[in-house]
Amino acid sequence: MSITKQIKKRKSVRSYTGEPLNEECVDRINNYIGQLNAPFGTKAKIQLIRAKTGDQPVKLGTYGVISGATDFLLLIGERGVMSEVGAGYMFEQVVLYCTELGLGTCWLGGTLKRDDFLKQIQLSEGEELIVISPVGYKREKRTLLESIMRAGAGSDKRKPFGSLFFNNTFGTPLTESDAGDYKTPLEMLRLAPSASNKQPWRVVMKDGAFHFYFQAGHFSANDMGIALCHFELTCNELDLKGHFERMSDVSSSNDMGYVTSWIIE
Ligand SMILES: Cc1cc2nc3c(=O)[nH]c(=O)nc-3n(C[C@H](O)[C@H](O)[C@H](O)COP(=O)(O)O)c2cc1C
Repeated sequence: MSITKQIKKRKSVRSYTGEPLNEECVDRINNYIGQLNAPFGTKAKIQLIRAKTGDQPVKLGTYGVISGATDFLLLIGERGVMSEVGAGYMFEQVVLYCTELGLGTCWLGGTLKRDDFLKQIQLSEGEELIVISPVGYKREKRTLLESIMRAGAGSDKRKPFGSLFFNNTFGTPLTESDAGDYKTPLEMLRLAPSASNKQPWRVVMKDGAFHFYFQAGHFSANDMGIALCHFELTCNELDLKGHFERMSDVSSSNDMGYVTSWIIE
């Protein structure tokens, strides 16, 4: 499946059948995780776990938000903006891979009982549990709570292109036609999931580069990593050559934290 198809197909799934992942899925996910590295020189790792105490299956708390999940992806990393950006990028790669396998996922940063999940893993010094996601077979029908949550967060909507992307300065919205070849990577970025669907990412196209900023907030650095993942993977698929680089002459502005730039080659 193409990356644009994976991105369009992915939606947060909170209702699962209760059936554990089959061995083939477990192996494929573990092999995929095994060959990933977190970008931007950051350290992060992902573990796939089956919730249990000893040999007994156990329910890990999500305040009732997730139903019927037995398997979970755990993102473990270090604190700091670039570490969280890199970790977010890496976790989204796995989320998209699971989407390709036909499995449901849902980033969870807030609605999880962290102590329940921490009992399932061992952390080294400096490591923290950043987010988790259930991974499994979707139930046909969403639970009522899931439908209410989706409606509350406006999960099926995204901000318009011109209020996320700008031409030269933050005062000038970027049109899809001015984005040229980059219309699709930016559109794929726009479809990214973000905590509470806040979409904190902003991008300024200027002088042969795209400069990426984010509005500070809970999980915004992870959100930024997801956005960079969608943007770069789409560029790779479309053979748009470039690389990320943090520019010394670009700085944060007002409430926008500068993260990195995509330099077109
Ligand atoms: C970093 C991050 C943290 C999130 N935390 C939660 C959470 O704690 N509980 C929850 O139900 N959804 C959570 N979400 C899912 C978002 O609400 C969801 O991605 C957004 O509403 C867009 O919907 P979609 O993923 O279906 O496109 C989180 C998403 C991200 C990216």
